[in-house]
Amino acid sequence: MKNYDIERHVRGESQFVDDISYPKGLLYAAVCYSDQAHGEIINIDISDVEQVKGIKLILTAKDIPGENQIGGIVPDEELLAEYKVEFIGQPIAIVVADDQLTAKKAARKIKVDIKDLPIITDARKAYEAGKLIVPPRTFNLGNVDDCWKKCDYIIQGTVESGGQEHLYLETQGAFAYPVEGRGIKIISSTQAPTAVQRVTARILNLAMHKIEVDVPRIGGGFGGKEDQATAWAVICALAAYKTKYPVKLILSRQEDMRATGKRHPYTSDFKIGLNKKKKIIGYEVTFYQNAGAAADLSPAILERTLFHCTNSYYIPNVKATAYSCKTNLPPNTAFRGFGGPQGMFVIESAMYKAAEKMGIDTSEIQNANLIKENDEFPYGQKAENCNALITWKRAEAKYSIKKTKDDIKKFNDKNDMYKKGIAFIPICFGISFTNTSMNQASALVHVYTDGSVSVSTAAVEMGQGVNEKIRQIATETLSINIDRIKTETTNTTRIANTSPTAASSAADLNGKATEQACNNILERLKKSAAEILNLKAVKNIEIKNEIVYHNGKRTKLSWNELVKQTNLKRVNLSSHSFYATPNIYFDREKEKGNPFAYHVYGTAIIEVTVDCLRGIYKFDSVKVVHDFGKSFNPIIDRGQAEGAIVQGLGWMTIEEVMHDENARLLTDSLSTYKVPDMHFTPEIEIEFLKNVENPMGIFKSKAIGEPPFMYGIGGYFAIMNALKAFRPNADFKISSPITPEKVLLNLHSKIDEPVTA
Ligand code: MTE
Ligand code: HPA
Ligand code: MOS
Repeated sequence: MKNYDIERHVRGESQFVDDISYPKGLLYAAVCYSDQAHGEIINIDISDVEQVKGIKLILTAKDIPGENQIGGIVPDEELLAEYKVEFIGQPIAIVVADDQLTAKKAARKIKVDIKDLPIITDARKAYEAGKLIVPPRTFNLGNVDDCWKKCDYIIQGTVESGGQEHLYLETQGAFAYPVEGRGIKIISSTQAPTAVQRVTARILNLAMHKIEVDVPRIGGGFGGKEDQATAWAVICALAAYKTKYPVKLILSRQEDMRATGKRHPYTSDFKIGLNKKKKIIGYEVTFYQNAGAAADLSPAILERTLFHCTNSYYIPNVKATAYSCKTNLPPNTAFRGFGGPQGMFVIESAMYKAAEKMGIDTSEIQNANLIKENDEFPYGQKAENCNALITWKRAEAKYSIKKTKDDIKKFNDKNDMYKKGIAFIPICFGISFTNTSMNQASALVHVYTDGSVSVSTAAVEMGQGVNEKIRQIATETLSINIDRIKTETTNTTRIANTSPTAASSAADLNGKATEQACNNILERLKKSAAEILNLKAVKNIEIKNEIVYHNGKRTKLSWNELVKQTNLKRVNLSSHSFYATPNIYFDREKEKGNPFAYHVYGTAIIEVTVDCLRGIYKFDSVKVVHDFGKSFNPIIDRGQAEGAIVQGLGWMTIEEVMHDENARLLTDSLSTYKVPDMHFTPEIEIEFLKNVENPMGIFKSKAIGEPPFMYGIGGYFAIMNALKAFRPNADFKISSPITPEKVLLNLHSKIDEPVTA
């Protein structure tokens, strides 16, 4: 049961937005972007461009029929900048032309006169200037202020973590065309079809029913198309609406890298207190999130940072405060883990620094503080079916950790120029959108008279295999051959008011809705079968492998025949079903509640070898025991875990997003932004934790999309441990990504100089 899209991908048959064959009269849109990070717009001069051959139309803010506003959580982001610009890459005007090159060249020729204003790129500076996106949030457990006197060790420090480019293979883009009645249909590469529909309606001043959004599949999103696919789709729709012609807009890689937001960089302060028994007594942390120039999803991401600020540990006294700071960078956005990784990196760093001071191994502190059944998270939820300690113990045993540690010590004693490091990283990630109302989905299932089945849901296929999982749910619930099941495109006319495909919960939410819809049809079919077979009781009827059984005995009634006859009897062979996660809530006044349906746990052990002469490193292995619940597609789930681990390691190590002092992105191509490749990727061994059925997940499984990303954090500390073996007394700063350049600086800066990297 592999992701069935892969065969089409390999054959080049899968269609992405740019592959769809377009109708005659197709026009191309291109965007004129701000090339200054902050300033007042004095004048927009389009006179040089208007006359160019092939140019159909130029649009600026004043041409927007509705509200010039695309902000999802906070209304603070214009589609087209009108009076001021706040980041490089902010759209100012749209050029529509007969061909793409003409449109792009013309967009670059528009002269925008901007009066400079001061630029802030640093979150702490924004905080000092009082520039916050939303009011700060604080989560509290126990009493931190009173706890420090009970501590034998108190450690304070600062932690930096960098941004990350999504680098989905398919760049942002959309295609829109006018339909009857002044409506618009949009094919969009988005994780959030309803967001595209809603914002298009707002911009065009139309009812949402006039806008149809369709998503066949997307070439990766990783969170980067949860909110930030919208602008491009709306630009296309606006151009199509104005010209009354179909319009396409596809960003080049460089445009995409420059104009879209990334993972949020964070800078954070921590204070951690422990007793002699290695128990953490208190933890106080302040997060400064670099939100960029508009809210986008930052407030929700900030919230998840708070939810995950103690990772998989129980800490009795916690105070965590988070600020979302407004800077002159493109609005940063969702990225696998959604703020969770940033929060977890800080607690792991605090424990690392504590272990250093106590002269012990970090893993001793980690192990001593793992969360147990019924322990309370700082947001009030209690740990249930808690597998933190089980995965840790299993990992220690399965991967012979005592011996591995001895071997590493021997290696390091023998070698001067190469040092090995090892680190443990347990994870705990909450499943559900943290915004309770978003935890809903629906499915529309049709059984056709030939017995084939069509399933529509809100889930967007982006390589994570959700469509294959939905097919499996339908095939198993109806007990018919998988070849009969087709998953349809994600479409706002078929499935309305959808939550984005995000928060790792698409298979759970849409799968449960699919299961219910299939069961509704199945009940009608069984009743019909009883009638056809002249049986009184429906309850002993079953469909197994396309055959109707009665009292466990095969009858002569097949799936095909049953479907055909049921239709002739005028019985409904379609069902629309709705699912909303039960028993979750969160009170944002008290900052307490039960926000998550369940948590995902696991433990990874990461080994690395550092070349201390060159500063380069190679991860030797990643060994994991992960709680997948009862996986019903181990191939997809393993693939998700492997991909997430490599992406997490990349974030922590080689992926460095850099800007110059004018907030210009320096790493805007693959020659300057390095991502993991085959050679980087270590051996990854993953054990599926056994006997763990998850009552809250679809088919007793657990969500898999995001949680394993956070194993990557262990990569950072494996490298730190190797550095420590080379230079035992240095006090290294915690600042990710730990690029080879930083490794070299850490290893060879003068002994009496503070280490700066
Ligand atoms: N896997 C692939 N191949 N491509 C992607 O874009 N996105 C990740 C994860 N795995 C992604 C992926 C993110 S950020 C999320 S939230 C989940 O998939 C979303 O899909 P799911 O809810 O079906 O797990
Ligand atoms: N995860 C991902 N996307 C989201 C969330 C979340 O918790 N909340 C709102 N959008
Ligand atoms: Mo994933 S960051 O929730 O799209």
